[in-house]
Amino acid sequence: MSLPTALALLGLAITAGAASGPTAGSQRSCSSFGPTPLAGVAFTGTTHFAANTRVNISNVYSSIDETNLPAFCRVELVVTTNATAGTTALAEVWLPDDWNGRVLTVGNGGLAGGVTVTELGHVAIPQGFAGISTNTGHDGDTDDGEWAGPHNDNAIVDWGWRALHLSVLAGKRIVEEYYGTAANKSYYLGCSTGTLKEVQDFPDDFDGVVVGSPANWQTHLQGWSIHMNLNTQPSTSPHFITEDVWNDVLAPEVMRQCDALDGLSDGIINDPRICSFRPETLTCRAGQNASTCLTGDQIGALRRIYADYYEADQTYVFGGYYPGGETEYYKGLVGKKQFDIGLGYFQFMVLNDTNFKIHDYNATVLKITDRIDPGQSNAINPNLTAFAGPQHNGKLLQYVGWADQLISPGNSIHYYTTVDEFTRANTTMDIDDYYRLFLVPGMNHCEADNCMYVQGGFAANAFGAVEQASNDNPPLSFDPQHNILAAMVQWVEEGVAPDTLTAANYVGNNVSNGVGFTRPLCRYPTTIRYKGGDPDSADSFECA
Ligand SMILES: *[C@@H]1O[C@H](CO)[C@@H](O)[C@H](O)[C@H]1NC(C)=O
Ligand SMILES: *[C@@H]1O[C@H](CO)[C@@H](O)[C@H](O)[C@H]1NC(C)=O
Ligand SMILES: *[C@@H]1O[C@H](CO)[C@@H](O)[C@H](O)[C@H]1NC(C)=O
Ligand SMILES: *[C@@H]1O[C@H](CO)[C@@H](O)[C@H](O)[C@H]1NC(C)=O
Ligand SMILES: *[C@@H]1O[C@H](CO)[C@@H](O)[C@H](O)[C@H]1NC(C)=O
Ligand SMILES: *[C@@H]1O[C@H](CO)[C@@H](O)[C@H](O)[C@H]1NC(C)=O
Ligand SMILES: *[C@@H]1O[C@H](CO)[C@@H](O)[C@H](O)[C@H]1NC(C)=O
Ligand SMILES: *[C@@H]1O[C@H](CO)[C@@H](O)[C@H](O)[C@H]1NC(C)=O
Ligand SMILES: *[C@@H]1O[C@H](CO)[C@@H](O)[C@H](O)[C@H]1NC(C)=O
Repeated sequence: MSLPTALALLGLAITAGAASGPTAGSQRSCSSFGPTPLAGVAFTGTTHFAANTRVNISNVYSSIDETNLPAFCRVELVVTTNATAGTTALAEVWLPDDWNGRVLTVGNGGLAGGVTVTELGHVAIPQGFAGISTNTGHDGDTDDGEWAGPHNDNAIVDWGWRALHLSVLAGKRIVEEYYGTAANKSYYLGCSTGTLKEVQDFPDDFDGVVVGSPANWQTHLQGWSIHMNLNTQPSTSPHFITEDVWNDVLAPEVMRQCDALDGLSDGIINDPRICSFRPETLTCRAGQNASTCLTGDQIGALRRIYADYYEADQTYVFGGYYPGGETEYYKGLVGKKQFDIGLGYFQFMVLNDTNFKIHDYNATVLKITDRIDPGQSNAINPNLTAFAGPQHNGKLLQYVGWADQLISPGNSIHYYTTVDEFTRANTTMDIDDYYRLFLVPGMNHCEADNCMYVQGGFAANAFGAVEQASNDNPPLSFDPQHNILAAMVQWVEEGVAPDTLTAANYVGNNVSNGVGFTRPLCRYPTTIRYKGGDPDSADSFECA
């Protein structure tokens, strides 16, 4: 796969970037850079990589091995997060020789544990950004929670928000020292873990934030993940549904009931809100082969799986699954495997009890979790005035796949709705001027396969977000219509807000197989409709 090597590929009117940025001579030499006297920040490595040399860097969470990156200076840092306790986080700042005057922080996923070097290398520096990333304060896999216990409070807070915030502050100072001038604008691109906390509590960290399927309501998300597990587990119970039934029975029936409702039978449910899937049609009749139909227990489980999750007193806890991701749901939360992120969260951050099993989860546990809010990682404040108001003018773009199997897309819609209601009731602002949410038909969680989950989904799922270019799923072009990062830059710097985006599907989710089709991504609450014409072309669809 060829990576862009020039910031010109950003396709924006950004002549103010590298060309007229730092004047020649003011940029420090990488080999003699650091350590600079920054309180609480220690240098542990400074390495210059010439253009097109091998960059082969890995940690427990993230790795990159490419020979086609532009020239850059890699700075490795240790950032003190609590001087009293002596706790630290690792951070890296990647400084391209050909800088566009901006910084881009890339996020993390799950409970991980590692600087996201793959996105620094595949997104930030090829597009001219100075890149920042943190390990969130510990090293570990996406689903490993052991580092948090017993009572490792500082590490939990670092994971919850502190490592990211302090790494951004340190990274911006490094950028200023290195180039001899501060960055003009600060951006964020991530999926899953992190950042809405920054938007709410540290509004000056970023000017533009692109966040995919955020885990911004951890106290409810983790309970929901266990609730979903329990809908089908254990595999010996009558409500268990086998992977074959998910793939061979449920998936085709969902398509039969829902696919054509958007005007096109193509294996993608463009907007599951317009289909109320009825699993009852699959009820076993006398003598029917049990692996081709559903029992009453299984239908009960499916009703819970496709529904929002409420407490006994009808308090909303979290969204549910939507029809359209059946071939991935077994591998998500409703298969045989227990969801280790949720289990680790309750064992090591909430109850401090390694004997806790998913079957011990109950309403009391949810209440305890809300009271503790480990690491204060919940980011559900609907008041974004400090970030988005006239004094800062920050912009927020959010995306989520309708077939997300790890965080219900209902969570993104729920947060957007609370911000919308707050904005209408309490401000003179219009949410459309600062916060836009895009739902991606058929896409799974973050498109990630850099961790234990191999995903993709049958979808137009390439639009410049994290974990896409690095998985041979790059945007079709680097202009703002096809590249969500460029769309954000254009919104922040030129005031042109993205109306729709155009996403690409590559055959088999791999650019080397060629383009399958293109589709618009519609801004919530509008929905995508087939107008007629070539179904492989985004032009044949509209958002209405
Ligand atoms: C890249 O680094 C890994 C270890 O970090 C090593 O196993 C591998 O051989 C390296 N690849 C190349 C092509 O040097
Ligand atoms: C820093 O760590 C110390 C010792 O664990 C703790 O008492 C203190 O509350 C921590 N401070 C913050 C701001 O987290
Ligand atoms: C920041 O933006 C200004 C105005 O567009 C421009 O003159 C300057 O060169 C930019 N700075 C950098 C570091 O790119
Ligand atoms: C478990 O430990 C964490 C971290 O010290 C703490 O915040 C939490 O309150 C503890 N949980 C209980 C139920 O005591
Ligand atoms: C039931 O259906 C499954 C899947 O189609 C098939 O493999 C199996 O042989 C069938 N069993 C019987 C008893 O017909
Ligand atoms: C809920 O679960 C907790 C932790 O496993 C347990 O201590 C408590 O007894 C349970 N409460 C109820 C009402 O079942
Ligand atoms: C929203 O937040 C802003 C800035 O933090 C604050 O000044 C304002 O009072 C808040 N608005 C409401 C209605 O709480
Ligand atoms: C308006 O702001 C008040 C004070 O912060 C808050 O209690 C209320 O819930 C907000 N209204 C909405 C609809 O969010
Ligand atoms: C994409 O296809 C190429 C060529 O077959 C292959 O080398 C590469 O590993 C594939 N990428 C992914 C992420 O599977």
